[in-house]
Amino acid sequence: MCGIVGYVGDKESAPILVSGLKKLEYRGYDSAGVAVVSGKQLNVVRAMGKLKNLENRVGQDLPQGTTGIGHTRWATHGRPSDENAHPHTYKNVAVVHNGIIENHLALKEQLRARGHVFSSETDTEVFAHLISEAQEQGKDLPDAVRAAIAQVKGTYALAVVSSADPHRLVCTKNASPMVLGLGEGQNFVASDVPAVLEHTRDFVYMEEGDLAIVSATGVEIFNRQGQKANRSTKRIDWTPMMAEKGGHKHFMHKEIWEQPRAIADTLRGRMLLTEGDVHFEGWNLTPEKVRSLTKVTILACGTSWHSGVAGKHMIESLARLPVEVELASEFRYRDPIVDSTHLAIAISQSGETADTLAAFKEAKGLGATAMAICNVMGSAMTREADISVLTNAGPEIGVASTKAFTTQLVMLYMLAVKLGRLRNTLTVKAAQEHLTHLAEIPKMVEDVLKCEPAVKKVAREFMTAQDFLFLGRGPMHPVALEGALKLKEISYIHAEGYAGGEMKHGPIALIDEKMPVVVIAPKQPHVAYEKIIGNIEEVRARGGKVIAIIDEDDAQAGTLADHVIRIPPASALLAPVVATIPLQLLAYHVAEMRGNDVDQPRNLAKSVTVE
Ligand code: G6P
Repeated sequence: MCGIVGYVGDKESAPILVSGLKKLEYRGYDSAGVAVVSGKQLNVVRAMGKLKNLENRVGQDLPQGTTGIGHTRWATHGRPSDENAHPHTYKNVAVVHNGIIENHLALKEQLRARGHVFSSETDTEVFAHLISEAQEQGKDLPDAVRAAIAQVKGTYALAVVSSADPHRLVCTKNASPMVLGLGEGQNFVASDVPAVLEHTRDFVYMEEGDLAIVSATGVEIFNRQGQKANRSTKRIDWTPMMAEKGGHKHFMHKEIWEQPRAIADTLRGRMLLTEGDVHFEGWNLTPEKVRSLTKVTILACGTSWHSGVAGKHMIESLARLPVEVELASEFRYRDPIVDSTHLAIAISQSGETADTLAAFKEAKGLGATAMAICNVMGSAMTREADISVLTNAGPEIGVASTKAFTTQLVMLYMLAVKLGRLRNTLTVKAAQEHLTHLAEIPKMVEDVLKCEPAVKKVAREFMTAQDFLFLGRGPMHPVALEGALKLKEISYIHAEGYAGGEMKHGPIALIDEKMPVVVIAPKQPHVAYEKIIGNIEEVRARGGKVIAIIDEDDAQAGTLADHVIRIPPASALLAPVVATIPLQLLAYHVAEMRGNDVDQPRNLAKSVTVE
């Protein structure tokens, strides 16, 4: 999410910063800005929208200065606007930041009590105020940054300039990436290598807690304890295109591997483990309102619709509210029953899908409370919504949705817990247990990614198959649907997802020795494990080839299947997050082996803004 670039040297920094930001547009593009220092002067230019807008402003009136920082934004706190664009400034300090400050509300409160006035809705602005305050107490720039980060809880890659210290910039990182680019008489900082690859190929990857002081003549790095640290320099020989993909062959592969981070970012600052509750910024539904709800209607298309189907299991189970999951394109052409006791939830990565937006408007018009679960703040759906909750997956470039799906799933789970608490269908203790399970998910996703070599073997064996069947029961049914959709989208192999129990009503006629059947069978009560084992046996009896997705410690299913992919055991309602990963990898590798354009499959668009 978001892109950072910084420069210290003997050249005008603004053009270098803007050209670096151009290489990072894939990280975020709702607004951008630069801050450059010239002597005692801090010059800031910011613009909402695509980078072109910033480029025009900078072009018209070049801000002078040879030390500077720049940022391209993907909103998480505060809608896209000029005011919310980075850099954020306070007095003589300017900062750019990637990540999320969890305690920004409390810090803002304290700063306001000390007379500070904020000019944006962002969490980031807090950094500028804290650093400036520490400078006023006599600290130099590096120590002022140290004093600020000591007060902050959350994640950050942060770059800071100050007109009180015009010839150096300070940067630091915690759980968000930051690299230093080394040049001759000039040095760079960036959230990602491609930003400055045209200037240097020598990079230092900062480690967690590192703080770097960057000047034209060198960089000094200190570890979290404040001791000087030696970090090795790496020579990067990626092409610019490879660099954008972080060394992965395709954006889709990069995005599959980003999921532990994307899920952690979506959970960050929202799970209140001690209280057994969930915090959503801007939540404006009173407990009375939530208790008066009689139905949830989920509206979505494509992959987002599949997460809605999984969300139905979560909300019905934890909040005991009936949920209907509607294909948005169908909903608007019938005579739906909606009233003011309903909650309409639009789920959408882009927030712009025409069918979902139209259905959402219709439900709202009929009186429903309108909630958007979106990955793009400021998108049409978030503007239409009474309440929006954001998945923090960051920009998704591959047309086949991956990280947007799994972040939607964890968002729906948090929503189910929140509704459950407000409706008293969950005790504090039960909610705490659910949140504890949720907190384990990023690590489990990290672990399940290790199945890639095993998945690749399966992909090689079946890459020429003409049809695939995916079976799942209960919460694994939407996983089967999603597995089939991923495969057909990018490999162009015909694939169907089915609820296991439905196999005998039709698809069983298709099964022969040429038919691979992916059975998603983690050992969970809700998944009717014994029944899905029965499905495996039915497929085998007809010569079909079974690829079973099963728990690590499942001895039974392992002996029945032709191929086995083992996954860490998650709780029943969360298992879809973990079980989806091997299916994404399967689709990816089959498509890649068939030589397809994985990121831009034929006939498909990332965001379908027409009916
Ligand atoms: C397109 C994309 C799908 C996506 C669907 C809904 O068809 O190719 O990957 O699931 O739109 O998009 P949304 O942005 O609303 O989630």
